[in-house]
Amino acid sequence: MLTEFNPSVSLAFLPTPLQALDRLSDYLGGPRIWIKRDDCTGLAGGGNKTRKLEFLIADALEKGADSIITTGGLQSNHVRQTAAAAARYGLDCYLILVRNVEWSDPAYQTSGNRTLDHLLGAKVSVYPAGTDRDQIMVDLAENLKTEGKTPYIIPVGGSNATGALGYATAAMELLDQCRSQKTTPKALYHATSSGGTQAGLIAGLISAKRPFPVIGIEVDGKADPVREAILEIVPRTLEKLGRFERWDPDHDLEVVTGYSGESYGLPTDAGQKAMELLARIEGILLDPVYTAKGFAGLLDHIRQGRFKKSDTVIFLHTGGAQAIGAYPSLFVPE
Ligand SMILES: Cc1ncc(COP(=O)(O)O)c(C=O)c1O
Repeated sequence: MLTEFNPSVSLAFLPTPLQALDRLSDYLGGPRIWIKRDDCTGLAGGGNKTRKLEFLIADALEKGADSIITTGGLQSNHVRQTAAAAARYGLDCYLILVRNVEWSDPAYQTSGNRTLDHLLGAKVSVYPAGTDRDQIMVDLAENLKTEGKTPYIIPVGGSNATGALGYATAAMELLDQCRSQKTTPKALYHATSSGGTQAGLIAGLISAKRPFPVIGIEVDGKADPVREAILEIVPRTLEKLGRFERWDPDHDLEVVTGYSGESYGLPTDAGQKAMELLARIEGILLDPVYTAKGFAGLLDHIRQGRFKKSDTVIFLHTGGAQAIGAYPSLFVPE
């Protein structure tokens, strides 16, 4: 078990609920669908970054950091949760936002997560598409050092082996919940992008003898970068966990394409339908960028007949509803 991996920082309300989607399962005629509510981690709206940030902020504090630097798109959930985590621990927070999505709603520029970043007191700088955000973070860190500060850089999505520990331990939490519900899922689905969530889940489940596969639905319009990130992060996470099980990417790593649409941040019709279905049948909010595409992938696999009626599948809700306000034209009639 990985129960000894408790971060010294506490940001999330854990365990998050594992909820049965009975109405949706009945509507679809099976399989039984459960949803793991990591949208309810609780930090300034919650989401999957909160678990990663418990380990990342703990590492930053251990290294004596007084300021955090991170990056993402204008509507990044990761930067919003990072700003909240920094506020909670009295750290300065610098956000490097890049305009990497061409979405026409004027609200996209200022509402949703963007508003929350400012509300949370982060120091926000916005750069044009194509900016080398990693270099900007390094340069900023150097400047802060010359001012006598001790900055800590969190990579995009909080996706490195330290952040992934949050999802290795989440896998244990989920297994405990499955045991107490006496349910053995056939698969765990989720939206995958910078790879840390999937890598952590894979490392955790390998450590638990692979009880079920993790299916990452990619949302960026390209699978190679996320696969490469996961290939790098899983062995490092296993090492941090002190686990020496063999990791076999051909068997353990499944990144599914075909549901991301044109590119990151641009909604898809199938995703919009998935959002409407879950909202109207279960009262649960998905987001257009990540979870809508992930859930659309799961629904399509169900329609393709990949599961028996009696099977159980779990969808990990990774959050993101705070960005819905940036996409009003999807839902508000003209
Ligand atoms: C709501 C939501 N779901 C899924 C993801 C993907 O997680 P990861 O970047 O760890 O692959 C993100 C990342 O920002 C997210 O904000």
